[in-house]
Amino acid sequence: MATIKDVAVKAGVSTTTVSYVLTGKRYVSEPLTRKVRKALQDLGYSPNNLARSLRSGKTDTIGLIIPDSSNAFFAEISRRIEDIGFKKGYSVFLCNSDDDPQKQQVYLQSLIAKQVDGLIFISACHDPELFEQIKSAGIPFVILDRHENGPTTNAVITDNVYGAEAATQYLASLGHKKIACIAGPQNVVSSNERIRGYKEGLSAAGLEFNPDYLLHGDFRFHSGFMAMQNLMKLTSPPTAVFVCNDMMAVGAIRLVHLANQRVPEDFSIIGFDNSQIAEVVTPALTTIAQPIDQIAQSAMDLLFEQITHSSEKAAEIRILQPKLVIRGTCQKIPGGD
Ligand code: RIB
Repeated sequence: MATIKDVAVKAGVSTTTVSYVLTGKRYVSEPLTRKVRKALQDLGYSPNNLARSLRSGKTDTIGLIIPDSSNAFFAEISRRIEDIGFKKGYSVFLCNSDDDPQKQQVYLQSLIAKQVDGLIFISACHDPELFEQIKSAGIPFVILDRHENGPTTNAVITDNVYGAEAATQYLASLGHKKIACIAGPQNVVSSNERIRGYKEGLSAAGLEFNPDYLLHGDFRFHSGFMAMQNLMKLTSPPTAVFVCNDMMAVGAIRLVHLANQRVPEDFSIIGFDNSQIAEVVTPALTTIAQPIDQIAQSAMDLLFEQITHSSEKAAEIRILQPKLVIRGTCQKIPGGD
């Protein structure tokens, strides 16, 4: 089994540099990092085990990186993860990435340097380097919500395509033929999967996709408000809207009310998440419920299976089923189109 000395000789660096690359305690330049990783690979050594042996025991802390804790969905996920961690004697460091890869990287370096025992995160971007970085640090991790890196990483995700298709077909079942979609950011995989589900739902209902009916927001309230304003300005406005998260759906409802129109009488609106905000808004939001408790529990189960087993467990991807929750923001179209 290669030692840290073997790796250092092979890479042509000091053992201290190898240690810094593996533990993340200090910044190491990209060229030197690449040398160390290649030496590890050439020596057929799993960086996880070496890094683990270098790490000074447990810290009883978990790192949690999410896009935005002011979003009710992320806030509820974070709260449940923290509650589960507390019961296990772990503290949770909560970090907001704002879906900014640079900010995410700063937090990641900080959490690695703190030698957290595990990491859970909703990635701000598609970055395979990121996962190699965490593996090199020997820190177990689980990806939540947005997963596009194949079977090599533990992940807990919602079947977004299924949920979006169910939402769209529900609107079609109410007689709506002009169904729009307010999606999230174009670089976010969960939003793109919901767009796919929306289009499949239209197709299953025998409805044509109209590009004018697909707008993008940023998963925040105001972007839903603005997108709905633009939809209402169309020559032929939609009668129903599938919104890819509850925060934007609430923004859309607010705009309709300010335009002296009504939900659901004039516009049917359905969201996605079933965060607490869905029951606060008037009328209460019909939405696609993500299994928030199950997401948090599954993530922590997967993480602690890694933390407590020194052996490399095979990566597992858990895909959870969302479900339609009917409240007060959708109705049959009066007299059809
Ligand atoms: O509300 C924020 C959205 O972004 C949620 O639907 C969640 O799935 C994330 O992708």
